[in-house]
Amino acid sequence: MNDATGIPQTALVLGGTSEIAIATMTRLAARRCRHIVLACRDTQGGAVAAAHSLRTAGATQVDIIDFDAADATTHAATIDAATELLGDIDMVLMAFGVLGNQADFDADPMAAVAAVNVNYTAAVSCGLLTAQVLRRQGHGTVVMLSSVAAERARADNFVYGSSKAGLDAFSQGLSDSLVAAGAHVLVVRPGFVHTRMTAGMKPAPFSTTADDVADRIVRGLETGAHVVWAPSVLRWVFTVMRHLPRGVWRKVSAR
Ligand SMILES: NC(=O)c1ccc[n+]([C@@H]2O[C@H](COP(=O)([O-])OP(=O)(O)OC[C@H]3O[C@@H](n4cnc5c(N)ncnc54)[C@H](OP(=O)(O)O)[C@@H]3O)[C@@H](O)[C@H]2O)c1
Repeated sequence: MNDATGIPQTALVLGGTSEIAIATMTRLAARRCRHIVLACRDTQGGAVAAAHSLRTAGATQVDIIDFDAADATTHAATIDAATELLGDIDMVLMAFGVLGNQADFDADPMAAVAAVNVNYTAAVSCGLLTAQVLRRQGHGTVVMLSSVAAERARADNFVYGSSKAGLDAFSQGLSDSLVAAGAHVLVVRPGFVHTRMTAGMKPAPFSTTADDVADRIVRGLETGAHVVWAPSVLRWVFTVMRHLPRGVWRKVSAR
């Protein structure tokens, strides 16, 4: 169960090598999140280093299990394995995702399908499987890494943006469907975050860091928030952006 400040004691991370996820879990481990399962497609290298740093931060036990977002037929086995290890799961952090490149998607639509399969289809599959566990338990939180890209599609990354828009809408519906069961969904909408996902790219305005996103996620858990933005000013920026006339939007969103 969460402690009195809303901090989970057990957690499953889907996409356990994500920089945003590791920054978040480091904070939670320091706040007595004792048992963490990192679910990763590569269970060596980065996952092993992440597990070590989470133990150093304060976690009593960190396990690493296989997870391939691209293969939905394996997701039930991943969630079952995590449930077996953790018993009750207080928090599931869904941090997997691929950015891709719009020019590559334009040239190869099957590459776009593969990206959407990871960003959206896997979120649906894992979200519904997780919901079954949380309903059974009668408690728990799903943290979904959406994006400000979900708010309005830009010409230079509309495949990614549309996949996150699907994830975001799904997460809001999942949240409403879980209220009666005592479970909760936190939707996280970061802007441009300096991680390996964006390495070498020109930063967008209001760019931020994995540490800042992690701080906002932890604060969102403490307060029981439904949505957090990182940085928070993006909430107001996108309230305006969403309503700009299309011609203006095309100009301001061009990079
Ligand atoms: N960075 C940003 O600017 C930004 C902004 C808004 C939202 N987000 C979202 O935040 C989340 C975390 O991103 P990040 O910035 O922390 O980037 P990251 O470090 O590149 O993390 C992405 C994670 O997704 C995993 N992944 C990708 N494909 C997978 C697959 N088929 N199966 C299992 N895992 C897979 C990666 O695993 P590997 O280690 O095996 O590659 C990695 O753990 C993503 O959903 C991203 O879309 C990021």
